[in-house]
Amino acid sequence: MRSFAPLVLSLLGATAAVHAADAETADAADANANVITLTTDTFDEFVKEHPLVLAEFYAPWCGHCKALAPKYEEAATELKSKDIPLVKVDCTEEEELCRTYEVDGYPTLKVFRGADSHKPYAGARKTDAIVSYMTKQSMPAVSNVNEDNLEEFKALDKITIIGYVASDDKTSNKSFTTFAESQRDNYLFAASNDAALAKAEGVKQPSIVLYKDFDEKKAVYDGKLEDEAILEWVKTASTPLVGELGPETYSKYMAAGIPLAYIFAETAEEREQFADEFRPIAEKHRGAINIVTLDAKLFGAHAGNLNLEPEKFPAFAIQETAKNAKYPYDQTKKLEVKEVGKFIKNVLDGKVEPSIKSEPIPETQEGSVTVVVGRNYQEVVIDNEKDVLVEFYAPWCGHCKALAPKYDELAALYADVPELNEKVTIAKIDATANDVPDSITGFPTIKIYPAGAKDSPIEYAGSRTVEDLVSFIKENGKYQVDGLAEGAKKPEQGGDVTSSAAKAAETASDEEGHDEL
Ligand SMILES: *[C@@H]1O[C@H](CO)[C@@H](O)[C@H](O)[C@H]1NC(C)=O
Repeated sequence: MRSFAPLVLSLLGATAAVHAADAETADAADANANVITLTTDTFDEFVKEHPLVLAEFYAPWCGHCKALAPKYEEAATELKSKDIPLVKVDCTEEEELCRTYEVDGYPTLKVFRGADSHKPYAGARKTDAIVSYMTKQSMPAVSNVNEDNLEEFKALDKITIIGYVASDDKTSNKSFTTFAESQRDNYLFAASNDAALAKAEGVKQPSIVLYKDFDEKKAVYDGKLEDEAILEWVKTASTPLVGELGPETYSKYMAAGIPLAYIFAETAEEREQFADEFRPIAEKHRGAINIVTLDAKLFGAHAGNLNLEPEKFPAFAIQETAKNAKYPYDQTKKLEVKEVGKFIKNVLDGKVEPSIKSEPIPETQEGSVTVVVGRNYQEVVIDNEKDVLVEFYAPWCGHCKALAPKYDELAALYADVPELNEKVTIAKIDATANDVPDSITGFPTIKIYPAGAKDSPIEYAGSRTVEDLVSFIKENGKYQVDGLAEGAKKPEQGGDVTSSAAKAAETASDEEGHDEL
């Protein structure tokens, strides 16, 4: 292990430089002064001479590259003092070099440790993110701390993680080091084998302590020293009790695998006040639910997705991200912490029904296509013994409009013949006006929910013709009903439909292998 003392100094220097550079951002005179341009002739030599290099492979016409350029330059300026060069390679000029490093999109950023060792840059494309990421790369995966530099180390980042391990405890040392190596891009790690220091920090050896500059400032891990368990704890311990939701943090919360509670408020003061009030509740349910505030002025429209009225703030809702179930809090009530706290507990205990956005259930079904809404979705699509084909559409979607007459024609094939109607339902749902359990990413989306296998619907990926849809239902439905088979169809339907359908059916079965997932 290297000692980190000199690194601390340069790192602190770099932090100071962040602010200096911010002030100079507007000064365009220096543009592109610190990013080094490399070519096929100079690249290898350069990365051999510098132990750590960040390289950008770009094309001059690429918009994302242009957007990155000023930030990349700022980061280069800040990292210069730490001897971490930022370089760039124009792939329209240096095709060979870019092929060597398997560049398949622009910009591609890679971290080089010599010519033979490189890995993708995995941070955000922003100045401070680049600086912080490359700084972590420049530190050893685990630094050594002692009584003298502990405080200094903790101050290096919002979150730091320190292992207190006895000098003869090789097993714990190895576990901690392995974990630190796997997470070195995300956190700063250090270790100490000083028993007195562990004691001063109030922990026994071996322990892992996560220090943070918010909430309760420190969290102690006393579970098993296994990667997965430690990682889960780190994720929980590093998430603020009441965080702020924004574009930067959204995906992290969505991926957390636990419900998310939203506090919508319009002013920063209000959000701060709510955060203070809700912290004890967040603490009580830590690891079971995440709580965030969000700016209702900027992101108020999101309230609509949670079945809240999007104009009435402050407002509160819980979303079970895994199931996309929504629990809006009654907007006629004041956001009183005690009451909302009870609501949170009830939702977590499964005592609250999720809210389902729904159009009214149609009193009668007019056409051959069965109209499904949020409130009868379960009944019409899932809780029955029929093969159900569902079109998820949006009223504004042009492709959906184009499909409509064909979809009607398709539905009539089954609806008008009693013995087929018993087995097959052709349905549609306006997915913008009704909650559906599946996440729908495009319109129209067509899926079949086969009888007896409703939890594994199959998405239709073929061309939107009656014949192909008929084949799809035949191939994937439990009853393998052929809506165009002789005898099944009504007398007035022309023979040419049948023959083209037969052809379509052949093609579809040829292609079945490609469509399976
Ligand atoms: C862990 O082991 C490494 C190498 O064996 C050693 O350099 C390091 O000091 C140990 N760390 C602690 C905290 O004892």
